[in-house]
Amino acid sequence: AAPGPLAGRHVLVTSGPTREPIDPARFLSNRSSGKQGHAIAAAAARGGARVTLVSGPVEIADPQGVATRHVETAQQMLAAVEAALPADIFIGAAAVADWRVEPSADKIKKSASGAPPTLALRENPDILARVAQRGAGRPALVVGFAAETRDVLAHAQEKLARKGCDLIVANDVGAGVFGADSNEVHLVTRTGVQSWPRLGKDEVAARLVAYICESLAAGGTP
Ligand code: C5P
Repeated sequence: AAPGPLAGRHVLVTSGPTREPIDPARFLSNRSSGKQGHAIAAAAARGGARVTLVSGPVEIADPQGVATRHVETAQQMLAAVEAALPADIFIGAAAVADWRVEPSADKIKKSASGAPPTLALRENPDILARVAQRGAGRPALVVGFAAETRDVLAHAQEKLARKGCDLIVANDVGAGVFGADSNEVHLVTRTGVQSWPRLGKDEVAARLVAYICESLAAGGTP
């Protein structure tokens, strides 16, 4: 077979939720299924790339031909991403928990008074921003996702600038996207917005990989 358009490239993808322990029995997490991130990793592998996937806890199988690292927390995800760098392309599709809890070594008990415990939240590292803002060794292309329930494009543009990535794939998660097999996305770059119709997540992945190949061929950032 002919070498794919991504032959010789290392593509690093994050996918799925993270899981932040509260105590040995409980955690904070979110509804990410990992379907979109895993589909992107698989599409990049089909394009000939060497692919590393760093996945939070998901119920779906590791994609074919992809080196998959399994993690739970955001801090573990950051460590696995840093261990996998350098990469030519970073795609942060994971729904990383924004906050973690300083976990209790023992299961938190109901107090005799019935007063509920207070969870002190600490901010998690922003993996996408860390990768995008690396000096030497920054991937040529850094892609983030933005799951929003309103003002999707405005939030995506703000995220692009604040995190320093090259492309934000934005979607409206008000519309039952979590766990679904299809997705309706907008590609937001510094120069414009491209909106795609509702497509299967595999089709979004294939088109996103094609879009990335075109921007690399055109000489850099989209
Ligand atoms: O700010 P927000 O969480 O909406 O940004 C989403 C994008 O940032 C996604 O690409 C997600 O993978 C990434 N992200 C991250 N680390 C975080 C929070 C978000 O990599 N702590």
